[in-house]
Amino acid sequence: MTADEQHQQLLAKLEPFGQQHVLQFWEELSPGERDELADQVAALDLALIDALHRGEVDQPDWGELSRRAEPPAVVRLAEQVGGSVSESHAAAARQRGEQALAAGEVGVLLTAGGQGSRLGFDLPKSMYPIGPISQASLLEIHVAKVRALAKRYGKAIPLYLMTSPATHADTVRFIEENQRFGLAESDLFVFCQGTMPAVDIQSGKLLLGKKHRLFQSPDGHGGTVAALAASGALEDMRRRGIQSLFYLQVDNPLVPIGDPELLGYHLLAESELTSVAVAKQTPEDKLGVFAKIDGQMHVIEYSDLPDEIAELRDAHGELKIWAGSIAVHVFATKLFERVQTQADSLPQHIARKLVPHLGPSGTLVSPTEPNALKFEKFIFDLLPKATNPVVVELAEEACFGPLKNAPGAEKDTAEYVQQMMLAQHRRWLEAAGARLAPGVKVEISPSFALDAVGVAERIEPGQTFETSQFLSGD
Ligand code: UD1
Repeated sequence: MTADEQHQQLLAKLEPFGQQHVLQFWEELSPGERDELADQVAALDLALIDALHRGEVDQPDWGELSRRAEPPAVVRLAEQVGGSVSESHAAAARQRGEQALAAGEVGVLLTAGGQGSRLGFDLPKSMYPIGPISQASLLEIHVAKVRALAKRYGKAIPLYLMTSPATHADTVRFIEENQRFGLAESDLFVFCQGTMPAVDIQSGKLLLGKKHRLFQSPDGHGGTVAALAASGALEDMRRRGIQSLFYLQVDNPLVPIGDPELLGYHLLAESELTSVAVAKQTPEDKLGVFAKIDGQMHVIEYSDLPDEIAELRDAHGELKIWAGSIAVHVFATKLFERVQTQADSLPQHIARKLVPHLGPSGTLVSPTEPNALKFEKFIFDLLPKATNPVVVELAEEACFGPLKNAPGAEKDTAEYVQQMMLAQHRRWLEAAGARLAPGVKVEISPSFALDAVGVAERIEPGQTFETSQFLSGD
């Protein structure tokens, strides 16, 4: 095809939607750049983008829905550690989960496609050196947990790692440079999620990031659904007999990956989607919340929850909508199989953002007010489609220390996360009878122990730690 024909073809697609400005620098582009732009335009669903901008795509009215929100039934923490009946339920769950792990029916799904813009770290978040002593990256810690889990149960556990075009190349290089952090090649499946363009709020026009490139962002972790199928990951799970997928997001090094009790609650309830909740401390906590609306389970994202609903209290003075989502789930793989056949299985969430872009003269415009609409899908919107959704409450200190903010913020900074890791490891050691001198920091690698039980197996009661150190089993 000549450059002219290529131009004509693109114009024919763009013009009906008034998006021909995308080609305004065409004459200045090299053949390679033209091809890149052509590929991007070819992948666009312009009718969808147009309808989203015009507000013609049905969107849930969360403000209105929230008024009917009720707290869902949750496997409460107190029940798991409480009376004998619930103790036996917890034990049965643990046993069922261990059985699934030992049968090789469990995989891990880690999403690492977000750009971490709030953190102020230029590389993918997965590469952030969070280990308080080891400086191990978030990714290394997650992989070490998967390896330790596989070792404990004597069965391979595949890790499905989702990147985005924004993080893919750096992540893959990082993995290769570090020999997959010891994971077998056959147990790591890296795949890339899709993107969505941003449009100008007023005009709906596509924004250019470069003369030959649209401004595009990852399509949200809801993009996992399509990417799992398109990449062959679902097929890989089918081949290996993976029935449950333990899902986590890369920013939280405290996730008890593959926790058998959680897997067990999921399996015993024949649930297609089991999720972890922590109790919100204040109405302002930036956590999506689990809620039942008209009998169906949902997560209402924090930005969609009206303040007056977030502030409601029950008769005991506790927050009514209390169950915060930490973005940890167990999915039945058959749920992913099923939703593949449902067109548009997840709704789009529309956010107003600041998006620097090229102006008509080709110079960079840096807005100071939100100027663009961005579109994302959220994985937790699968909840209303799942059979028997289950929510399990865990203690925040046992599972939730997300790295989200740059230094100086009140919570969720690197320093905050490191303190949570060290406090957890100290608790495990002290529970095993070890003594730590004041101020001593001990970081435990997942290769040394995965949890308090694992620590107790390796530590002598009375063992003392006089100096800060990293305990590794490698
Ligand atoms: C997210 C949840 C929120 C939850 C909180 C707990 C969303 C929309 N909200 O908020 O309900 O209470 O975490 O920590 O998720 N990601 C991708 N690709 C994408 C977008 C995100 O892989 O296109 C993954 C990344 O691992 C990222 C993570 O999702 O680190 C979180 O996404 P982010 O947009 O930062 O959500 P939060 O505001 O942290």
